[in-house]
Amino acid sequence: MARMSASTKSSQLFFVLLLAILVSPEPAVAGKPPKITRLQFYMHDIHSGQTPTAVRVAPSQPLNFSGENPMFGSVYVADNQLTVSPDINSTLVGRAQGIYAMASLGEDMSLHMMLTYTLQQFNDSSFSVIGRNPVMSPVREFPIYGGTGVFRLARGYCFAQTNSTSGPDAVVGYNVTLFHY
Ligand SMILES: *[C@@H]1O[C@H](CO)[C@@H](O)[C@H](O)[C@H]1NC(C)=O
Ligand SMILES: *[C@@H]1O[C@H](CO)[C@@H](O)[C@H](O)[C@H]1NC(C)=O
Ligand SMILES: *[C@@H]1O[C@H](CO)[C@@H](O)[C@H](O)[C@H]1NC(C)=O
Ligand SMILES: *[C@@H]1O[C@H](CO)[C@@H](O)[C@H](O)[C@H]1NC(C)=O
Ligand SMILES: *[C@@H]1O[C@H](CO)[C@@H](O)[C@H](O)[C@H]1NC(C)=O
Repeated sequence: MARMSASTKSSQLFFVLLLAILVSPEPAVAGKPPKITRLQFYMHDIHSGQTPTAVRVAPSQPLNFSGENPMFGSVYVADNQLTVSPDINSTLVGRAQGIYAMASLGEDMSLHMMLTYTLQQFNDSSFSVIGRNPVMSPVREFPIYGGTGVFRLARGYCFAQTNSTSGPDAVVGYNVTLFHY
C-alpha cells in the first residue's frame, strides 16, 4: 500500500514536470527581454471609385431588423495600402489584409476586425490584430495577437485615429507598439 502510494506520488510528480516543460517558454526566448518596435503609418480604407481596396461581401441587400444600426451584419474584405503619410501616393510601407464586420446593433457603429499588417521594410514580417473598432471614437485601441518573421511571438497594441474621410473612404493613422523576440 505504501509502495503504491509512493509510485502514485512519483507519477504525479512526473506529470507536474511534464506540464511544466510543456508550458515553459521556447528555450530561445526564455529569459530574453522582448525587443520593442514602435511603428507609425496610415491605412487607406478605399470603398469608392474604380479600384476599391475594401469591398462589402455580405449581405448584398440591407437587412430588415429592429436595431439602430442599419449596417449591422455587413462583412467586408480588405487589402488596404499602408503608407508613410496620409497622402495615398506617399511611400507604400505595407498592406493590411483581412476581414471586418459591422458587429454592433447600436449607434456606436463598432466593427469587429481581423486584419494582418504586413510590412515590407521588415522583410514582409507581419502582425495580426483581432478586436473591436468603435469607428466613431476619436482614438481606438486594438490588441496585437502575434506575428511572423521579425515579429514572431509578438504582443502589443495599436492606437488608430481617423485622419480624414471622403464619402465611404477613410485614411486612418496608426501608432503601433510591438513586443517581440
Ligand atoms: C422588410 O420590411 C418591410 C417594411 O416593414 C417589409 O415590407 C418587407 O417585406 C421586409 N422584408 C423582408 C425580407 O423581411
Ligand atoms: C495619387 O496619384 C494618382 C495617380 O497618379 C492621382 O490620380 C491621384 O490624384 C493622386 N492622389 C493624391 C491624393 O495626390
Ligand atoms: C528575408 O526573407 C528572405 C526570404 O524569406 C530570407 O531568405 C532572408 O533571410 C530574410 N532576411 C532577413 C533579414 O530576415
Ligand atoms: C501617434 O503618435 C504621434 C507621435 O507621437 C502623436 O502625435 C499622435 O497623437 C499619436 N496618435 C495616436 C492615435 O495615438
Ligand atoms: C493627419 O496626419 C497628419 C500627418 O501626420 C497630421 O499632421 C494631422 O494632424 C493628422 N490629422 C488628424 C485629424 O489626425
